[in-house]
Parts: sequence; C-alpha cells; structure tokens
Amino acid sequence: NYYAVIMAGGVGSRFWPVSRTTYPKQFIDIAGTGKSLIQATYDRFKDIVPEQNIYILTNEKYRDLVKEQLKGITDAQVLCEPVMRNTAPCIAYACHKIHALNPDAAIVVAPSDHLILNTVQFSKDVSNALETASQNPCLITLGIQPSRPDTGYGYIRFSEELLGNGFRKVQQFTEKPDLEKAEAFLASGEYLWNAGIFIWSAAEVLKSFEKSLPEMHQLFGGAKEIYNTPEEETFLKENYASSQNISIDYGIMEQADNVYVLPVDFGWSDLGTWASLYTLAEKDANENVVVPSGSALLYNTSGCMINLPAGKKIVVKGLQDYIIAESNNTIMIVPRNSEQEVKQVVADVKTTF
Ligand code: GDD
Ligand code: MG
Repeated sequence: NYYAVIMAGGVGSRFWPVSRTTYPKQFIDIAGTGKSLIQATYDRFKDIVPEQNIYILTNEKYRDLVKEQLKGITDAQVLCEPVMRNTAPCIAYACHKIHALNPDAAIVVAPSDHLILNTVQFSKDVSNALETASQNPCLITLGIQPSRPDTGYGYIRFSEELLGNGFRKVQQFTEKPDLEKAEAFLASGEYLWNAGIFIWSAAEVLKSFEKSLPEMHQLFGGAKEIYNTPEEETFLKENYASSQNISIDYGIMEQADNVYVLPVDFGWSDLGTWASLYTLAEKDANENVVVPSGSALLYNTSGCMINLPAGKKIVVKGLQDYIIAESNNTIMIVPRNSEQEVKQVVADVKTTF
C-alpha cells in the first residue's frame, strides 16, 4: 500500500546559470556524487516502496529527460503536467490518481532536488512515517534542526510528542518567513525547518484539499473515473491550466490542524542555492570551493564558490566571498550573500539578452 511521488517540475532558478529551464538542477549531478539529484532520489525510494509505485510528477517538457535518466522506468510512472502550477495541484492530481487505484494507499511526497547523505537513516525515518500515516488520520512532515535564519524554508513550531515513535504535534507552520521572523524563530529554539518531504494516507490528504483548496479538490477529484484510463492525458491537457497556482506549503500545510513532524537527522541539504552547496562542499585552506578542483589559480582570494564546466580554467586575484559560475557561455559573478536574489537576476537576464 506504499507509494512515492517525486516532484520534478521546478526550474531551480536560484542555481542559475548551471540550472536552466531547459535543463533544471534535478537532472544535474550538482553535488558531484556520480548521479543526478533525481537519479539519487529515485534510488532512495526503491528501497522503501515497490518500484512500480514510484511516480515522477514533472512538466511535459522534461518527460524525455526523466525517461533518459531513470533507466527502466515505465510510461505509467511518468506523469506530466502541461503547465507549471506549483506543488499543490501536482500533489492533488497525484494523490487523487493513487487513491483511485488504491483507497488504502499511504504516500510519501518528496522533492527531486535534495541531497541526503545517510540513506539508511532516511529509509528508517520514511518507513516509520509511512506506517504511522497508514494508522493515524494525520499529515506528517520531516523536520530539520535549523542552523541559520534562512528565509527560503518553511518553519515548524512543534509541541509535545504524540503518536509515539518520535512524532510531534505541529502548532504552527510558517512558509518562507521574512528575515526578522526567521531570526526570532531560530533564537527561540522551538522551530524546525520543513524538509519538504510529506507523508500521509491518500484519504487524509484529500480531506485536507477538500477543506482548504475546495476548487482544486473538485477539479482533480471530479475526474476520478478517468484516471488510469487513456483519457487521463486529455483531461490534463484541457483542465490542468485552470487550477490555482499555489504551493502545498501555503495551500495545505499552513492551514491544516492535524500536522505532525518527525525530527530527523540524515545529512539533509536542499541544494537550493549556490551558498547551500558552498556550505556543504569541501573547502581549501582559504575557504574557497572550486569545482571541478584544479581549474582555478587563486591569489589573495577567500570564501569564494567557483563552479566551472570541465576543461575551463580561471585566474582570480583579490576577491572575497563571491560566487562565480559558468555554464552555456554565460558567466555569473555575484556576492555570496546575495544568493536569494539570483532568482531576480534570472528574470532580468530573460528581458535583457
Ligand atoms: N511536478 C512539479 N510541478 N514539481 C514542482 C513544481 C510544479 O509545478 N514546482 C516545483 N516543483 C518541485 C521542485 O522541482 C522541487 O523538487 C519541489 O517541487 C519543491 O519545490 P521548490 O520550488 O524547490 O520549493 P522550495 O524549496 O521553495 O520550498 C519547499 O522546500 C523547502 C525545503 O527544501 C517548501 O516545502 C519549504 O517549506 C521547505 O522548507
Ligand atoms: Mg527547493
């Protein structure tokens, strides 16, 4: 009864210029592990749920990339959205579809672009959560000990342990707070970061959609009898675009009152920005990260994150705390502390060149 839904429709714009709309970061081996992020994600779930119960939710334009990278995946496992409408509609669609196949399904929903170092611990935690979600009417998320006031995450205020096995009742879920709030949350010691990995029974999450996003619930629930038939694709083409554009965090998690968090520690990184990769990577004596190594000649330079295509070389003198990244004949040089602004840079690039 266990299923996995891997969300792989994002464009990863804060990792520009390496991550692009035509080749987003989930398809890239950003951390240098030998597998792209989506390949590593798929392999992690193969140990937890039957392989044919793993679905990839992506955009129509990434269908071929998914099939090329995940060898042996069947057409039935690759579900494509005709347009991007953020994570709530893709989850509503996937959960309705799985519920139509198996009303007793318990589902883990996960991003395709995270790095997880301890996969054994990851399997234990997710299996524990799937078992708990099949037996209790709750929505489960995994919580990470926060280390900085990052405004790119969801923050979870938790209370006493309930349900056993380490699950804590969530009192408040705040998606992407402003810096002032994030600093207060961090200082209080009462908050965890939302890892963005959700576990629930299909029945329970559909109840939440019905309550918090009723129109979306109707849109995707109204098509129950055509899921898993040849008309499914036509239905998506004709209706997906009319769905509200909102993330699961704002649309469901902030609204629900039956959320539980399992605090986890399995070497998680969301690889959301250049600075997150910098934090994780091995640094030289002057705190520089150079990928691939040996491609930079540095003088009086420290705290820099340098990412070049194989074969390219760079010489830098007198630079502190910068990100230098090159891909596809485009070079970006920005201060390391302006990482969240890369999104805006990408928007400006599109209107400039
Ligand atoms: N199929 C599909 N369709 N996937 C999507 C879409 C879409 O329209 N939009 C985004 N995704 C995928 C992304 O590729 C990524 O794997 C995942 O969904 C999450 O989307 P992000 O855009 O990366 O979300 P975020 O990082 O801003 O925030 C989420 O993750 C944080 C942890 O990394 C939230 O859940 C936060 O609360 C959380 O802290
Ligand atoms: Mg993300």
